[in-house]
Amino acid sequence: MTYQNPSLDPVAELKANVARPFEDAKAMPKSVYTSEAFCDLELENIFRKEWVCVGRADALKSAGDYITYELAGQPIMVLRDAEGFLRAQSNVCLHRMSTLLHGDGNARNITCPYHGWTYNLDGTLRGAAAMGKNEGFCKAGMKLPEIRCEEWLGWIMVTLSADAPPLAEQLGEVEALVGDFGMADYRQSFRETHVWDTNWKVLAENFMESYHLPVCHAATIGGLSKLEEMECPPSHPAFNYHWILKDADKLPIAVAHPQNTKLKGDLRRTTFLLTIYPSLMITLTPGYFWYLSLHPEGPGKVRIVFGGGFSPDFADDPKAPDYLAQVKALLDSVNVEDKGCTERVYKGLCSGLSQPGPLSHLERPNYDFAQWLAEKIG
Ligand code: FES
Ligand SMILES: [Fe+2]
Repeated sequence: MTYQNPSLDPVAELKANVARPFEDAKAMPKSVYTSEAFCDLELENIFRKEWVCVGRADALKSAGDYITYELAGQPIMVLRDAEGFLRAQSNVCLHRMSTLLHGDGNARNITCPYHGWTYNLDGTLRGAAAMGKNEGFCKAGMKLPEIRCEEWLGWIMVTLSADAPPLAEQLGEVEALVGDFGMADYRQSFRETHVWDTNWKVLAENFMESYHLPVCHAATIGGLSKLEEMECPPSHPAFNYHWILKDADKLPIAVAHPQNTKLKGDLRRTTFLLTIYPSLMITLTPGYFWYLSLHPEGPGKVRIVFGGGFSPDFADDPKAPDYLAQVKALLDSVNVEDKGCTERVYKGLCSGLSQPGPLSHLERPNYDFAQWLAEKIG
């Protein structure tokens, strides 16, 4: 049961919250997480307008490889077409509007599971049985609506907006920041979808701060990093980031491979935690990466694409499969801890007596995210 004071308007509350200086910052108001109306505003002003990540381009290698996604209520498919291009299009049949593909896989062409209309990979209608007697029906020109899709540093990004500026324009500084990692060439080894019982922003904010690592993750990665070795610079308008330094002896794949000559000095043991607004969270280490792409399913549920893999330096290393299995097992345990923490926060902020508390200097990205959110919603 969600407690809400109907006299409070989430947008007005958020504006008051972000007007505070960082030195006096508080967590965002509860209504921003729990209100249905605010969630609708997010779908309209953020998820229908911004670039959202659906996965990694290297996972769609062959013609017909596809993944499906639901973006702000719109079912979409992203596939590698016959010419080798990534293509995103509506995943809804042009007949009586059934969805077409489900999950992920490979399709030579697209067949509707309802009456069997078929489509080529480029979305053009290929066949429709028993339509010859309808004189108004003309197959030519029938094509699934296209959706904007860009590949950026290996990420497949889609948007329902015709006006969103190209990603490279907004995210040039990310490229400058982590350019030596060569993220575009990292290879995905797993991609899963999960749903957790929390608001998408609770999970996003959990990712943005590493303040919780020593305690929430005491049983797993808590000991790998120290609060005094975390840097949280002010954010960029389109993303925020912080970094932590890791010790080589504890997790060999978290530091640069001996054959990697591009990364120098502390960068060889630096883990970047990047949040690309609105909802792509990337943990980038010299040896491996993992990511979360978040989408709200109402205020109290978040759909998560969780994926990861390794840098090309480790591709030929005979120990790579072992390292990777070790990292995947570790990430699964870390996720269980984050799930617990973020679901407990959601429960707490739905309660009548809870109040947003003050932020640490290690929660600078959270403060900046609130500013970004207020601007988009406002
Ligand atoms: S709804 Fe797709 S073939 Fe009828
Ligand atoms: Fe965490």
